[in-house]
Amino acid sequence: MLLETPRLILRDLTDADVDALHRALGDPVAMTAYEHGFDLDETREWVRRQRTRYSADGFGLWGVVLRETGELIGDCGITTQRIEDDSVIEVGYHLARDHWHRGYAVEAGRACVDWAFATLGADEVYAKVRDTNLASMNVAIRLGMTVRRRFVTRYRDIDMPHLAFSVSRAAWGPDASGRV
Ligand SMILES: CC(C)(COP(=O)(O)OP(=O)(O)OC[C@H]1O[C@@H](n2cnc3c(N)ncnc32)[C@H](O)[C@@H]1OP(=O)(O)O)[C@@H](O)C(=O)NCCC(=O)NCCS
Repeated sequence: MLLETPRLILRDLTDADVDALHRALGDPVAMTAYEHGFDLDETREWVRRQRTRYSADGFGLWGVVLRETGELIGDCGITTQRIEDDSVIEVGYHLARDHWHRGYAVEAGRACVDWAFATLGADEVYAKVRDTNLASMNVAIRLGMTVRRRFVTRYRDIDMPHLAFSVSRAAWGPDASGRV
């Protein structure tokens, strides 16, 4: 898989990306919504899970690489997720903190949502966001998504209220995606 945007390349993650990705996933501040920074084994397992998804589903979270420097700054991609009893197509994103606030999550997320509508023929693309994660909510909003429902996920023995954002295929487009 290879997706290109003006500033980014999205490509399959490999075991060689574990250390770079760990700068995002291993950071307890960046990972506040998960209540802990991953240890290196958890990041390794995360990459393996994406590689399993690539073979089983044909998609997963991809590595986000800066075109200018070749640096891998995080992940962004499409996965299948459960929201209560429903199986949905979701866009997800995790970036290293020193690359936040430059519009990279929206740029990468937009390419992934485009891909899901064009390639998977999805009718709706979701973002599951913990109700404390303002940065992620703002990315979803900038992707043209609207909040649809509230649900609770239990993770690490903690009940975590979440919001389900989504955008429909019909609404997706230059205006809906917030392009200017
Ligand atoms: C969520 C995340 C990927 C956003 O990355 P980013 O590249 O900084 O986001 P962008 O620069 O594309 O910003 C998108 C919008 O969110 C807003 N935003 C970004 N960080 C924010 C923050 N900490 N608080 C509030 N709003 C924020 C931006 O202002 C922007 O809105 P605008 O275009 O109206 O100004 C990043 O914060 C992250 O990796 N967080 C940790 C992992 C995580 O929680 N992922 C989501 C799991 S559901």
